[in-house]
Amino acid sequence: MLHQKIAKLVNEQVNKELYSAYLYLDFANHYADAGLDGFAHWYEIQAQEERDHAMMMRRYLIDNGVRVQFEAIEKPDKKYADNAAPLAAGYEHEQYVTSLINTIYGEAFALKDFKTMQFLDWFIKEQGEEEKNAEDMVRKMQLFGGDAKGLYALNAELAARVYAPSATGPAM
Ligand code: FEO
Repeated sequence: MLHQKIAKLVNEQVNKELYSAYLYLDFANHYADAGLDGFAHWYEIQAQEERDHAMMMRRYLIDNGVRVQFEAIEKPDKKYADNAAPLAAGYEHEQYVTSLINTIYGEAFALKDFKTMQFLDWFIKEQGEEEKNAEDMVRKMQLFGGDAKGLYALNAELAARVYAPSATGPAM
């Protein structure tokens, strides 16, 4: 049985991950509207990954006897001044998500909940990768997004992203 503090935090994180999916779909909407289908595609896949994260956490709660409770998912209401803005917002958002995962990890550590710590290890590593990807996107846009040819090439590169379900996932 999970400590109720941990159950509550992981349950809240399910909602945050679903919000992340919603936010990234909103980025995709912006890029689809701007005619940058590669950027839109990249964020559609990112949204799928976020949904996967939510599902992994939901499964962890269920497998530990917790009744999962869904709350309303916040509306993504950011305004994007240009095509670089969602990338910066994405990097900021991933740093925020890392802080949330770290908070749960810290609570699990304090409660000697080694099972949840092991479960979260996958997410700690994943957040490292997600932050790096988000920062790379910001950098690439700064370097190459300033002229039409560079933006075209970057859009084509992002269009090639392939969705790969997290086959390994966290330890349950
Ligand atoms: Fe589920 Fe992008 O962190």
